[in-house]
Amino acid sequence: MRKLIFTTWLILATLLFTNCASLFGKKESFEIGNREFVLNEKPFLIRAAEIHYPRIPKDYWEHRIEMCKSMGMNTICLYVFWNIHEQKMDSFDFEGQNDIKEFCKLAQKHGMYIIVRPGPYVCAEWDMGGLPWWLLKRENVQVRTKEDAFFLERMKIYFSKVADELAPMTIKNGGNIIMVQVENEYPLYGNDKEYMEIVRSAIVDAGFDNVELFSCAWSHNYKPTMLDGVLPTINFGAGSNIDEQFKDLSKDCPTIPLMCSEYWSGWFDHWGRPHATRSVEHMCGSMKDMLDRNISFSLYMAHGGTTFGQWGGANTPPYSTMATSYDYDAPISEAGWVTPKFTAVRELLANYLNEGEVIPEEIPAQNTVITIPEFKLEEVAPLFDNLPEPKFSEDIKPMEMFDQGWGRILYRTKLPAGDANRKLLIEDVHDWALVYVDGEQVGKLDRRRSEKLLNLPLTDQETTLDILVEATGRVNFGGGIIDRKGITSAVTVLDRDNKTSLKGWEIYNFPVDYKFQSSLSYKKSDKIEAPAWYRGTFEIDKVGDTFLSVKNWGKGMVWVNGHNIGRYWRIGPQQALYMPGCWLKEGENEIIILDLDVPESCTVSGLDKPVLDDLRADKTLLNRKDGENLDLTKEVPVISGSFVPGNKWQKVKFNSTKKGRYLCLEALSSFSNDGMASIAELYAVDKNGKDISRDDWTVVYADSEEVMQDNSDASKVFDLQESTVWHTSWSDNKVFPHQIVIDLGKEYDLSGIRYLPRPQENAPAIIKDFNVYLNSSPFKK
Ligand code: GLA
Ligand code: CA
Repeated sequence: MRKLIFTTWLILATLLFTNCASLFGKKESFEIGNREFVLNEKPFLIRAAEIHYPRIPKDYWEHRIEMCKSMGMNTICLYVFWNIHEQKMDSFDFEGQNDIKEFCKLAQKHGMYIIVRPGPYVCAEWDMGGLPWWLLKRENVQVRTKEDAFFLERMKIYFSKVADELAPMTIKNGGNIIMVQVENEYPLYGNDKEYMEIVRSAIVDAGFDNVELFSCAWSHNYKPTMLDGVLPTINFGAGSNIDEQFKDLSKDCPTIPLMCSEYWSGWFDHWGRPHATRSVEHMCGSMKDMLDRNISFSLYMAHGGTTFGQWGGANTPPYSTMATSYDYDAPISEAGWVTPKFTAVRELLANYLNEGEVIPEEIPAQNTVITIPEFKLEEVAPLFDNLPEPKFSEDIKPMEMFDQGWGRILYRTKLPAGDANRKLLIEDVHDWALVYVDGEQVGKLDRRRSEKLLNLPLTDQETTLDILVEATGRVNFGGGIIDRKGITSAVTVLDRDNKTSLKGWEIYNFPVDYKFQSSLSYKKSDKIEAPAWYRGTFEIDKVGDTFLSVKNWGKGMVWVNGHNIGRYWRIGPQQALYMPGCWLKEGENEIIILDLDVPESCTVSGLDKPVLDDLRADKTLLNRKDGENLDLTKEVPVISGSFVPGNKWQKVKFNSTKKGRYLCLEALSSFSNDGMASIAELYAVDKNGKDISRDDWTVVYADSEEVMQDNSDASKVFDLQESTVWHTSWSDNKVFPHQIVIDLGKEYDLSGIRYLPRPQENAPAIIKDFNVYLNSSPFKK
């Protein structure tokens, strides 16, 4: 009897097991071998294409996956964005547009493997680098560290939900997931190795216990967080010197397969800065170098897509927010089109296939494109006529404290009577504010320019003060990631020597969901009433992709048929928003635009191509004001010297320590004699040999900056990004010397500087001879 039960159990178990395995197809194996990846016992070079499911409408997922395959890729690499799945604490969503399992299955259908990067932090120019905003409701919250038990607990819950979806799809379970990443570029944020170990264990414990793990960092900082059982890989951009990038890693770990986990095909765009591009030659050049050396890579991005809705992030310092398009100058354009980069990659990769692989002969057809003649939005809902029920708070607080994740917030209080000598000080506007006294607009404050102060008008009796703040993306990179929105510290009236902190606030929340935008009371109107929501309809007889021209509008957000298609800002460079055809319908479509600034006209049209590079130049953002000329004639350098050629980090030691707050680097010549200078990153080193913090650095002068043809203003020397540079103008003023002056925020005892040249091999504008000056007071201009 016993035996019978056992045999029945065995038969059942075998049946169950074979069934499970066949659910995802036949089981395969993937291992990190000796200097190579091994797939089903054969060497396997990973050619991965990074694409992001929330940046592509679900209806187009399959098209984009097929595009990657036809470009010659064998793997899809994706981040999992914690904050899109858990927008409210404890309420998880993996359905529809968030269905990551479905996304991986589509890749499997086309014979593509998957690399998953679940974070918890992902960077990705995404709001708070993928971390959920509600973490910020806790006053002293810390992230990405073992010091915060709450953060770790929430991370583990999130990982277990991701594992519920994806762990059954690891390659050993019969799925297509070959690797899972632990954290993301952690050494750029911290050095808490125990935290990294906790993340690794949490990923394994959640259910990813039979799949290879890896981590990524940069060539000079991967060491401190190398973990047992986790393959270290390196990230860098198009045009890099491959031997230099892998020199240390291949010495430290001579038996591992080498991989560039993020090979940046292009770069992302910021509002108010030129559209970034990277050349086909640079991208294919170092890609070929990797292929020739049997180095695997993931192309970040193969197709960037669109950062719809409120999901765009920001960088700091200085604060700078991301455009809606994430085209990235990637080989597959934002709308999924073939570009010259696509063709070049496809041709190159054809020569480097693994045994048994073929690149499909056919490239998937491009989606239909339509145009929409200009139409007018005829209804308006002025913001001040549509205030929701207020909340009350004695002290001013950021929006998270009022349970709001994104959007706009209005702070209202009483302003006492006073004369016209008063100023209003708002220490931390996150990120853009309109200020009204008694219903009249009295100023605008823009965090990008560190604006905090404005003049108050005479008010002979107590009146209403309104501060309307728009949040434009939480910081997603570096130390500034705790970035609450709205107003994050006090609002003070400065009246000669008196300072009064304003209290007793009414709070009005304007969230970003469609339900809220559609619930307002719209009326027909010909007048432009800003700030306001505008609503209109347009008819189409054929569905297709289009690009909504918003060039007549000020600053705001657009919803079409209930889909939040993103932010726009008249400063550019993006002047049209990608409108996927799958979200349009034949016949009537609805559009709602919330504009905080004044539109020139309430009209929109649908174009047949993107507008990514129409920047409205803003001279006031330049770091050299009209008529300024740095005068160093009376100054003595702390050191003069020559950098060594190449693209590596270099240290310059002063002859003795020197006190100072203003640091000037003067370039006297370049290796290629082109009259231009560039710097990728610059640090100042204190008397103990440690880098000083760059959090309070500001550029006070740069004699020349390329800000029209490329995003290369002087602040790029301390933006933590090794692939962005300060570059003097490409066309004017190509004569040495060139100077950059930085205010370090306070006085330091310095012993030297550290300098990183631009990363491209033999590129122009790499500085040779230089002087460094250090002063306690500003240099003469
Ligand atoms: C880093 C991050 C990515 C992305 C790129 C820049 O490598 O890991 O998430 O932010 O930079 O696009
Ligand atoms: Ca930089």
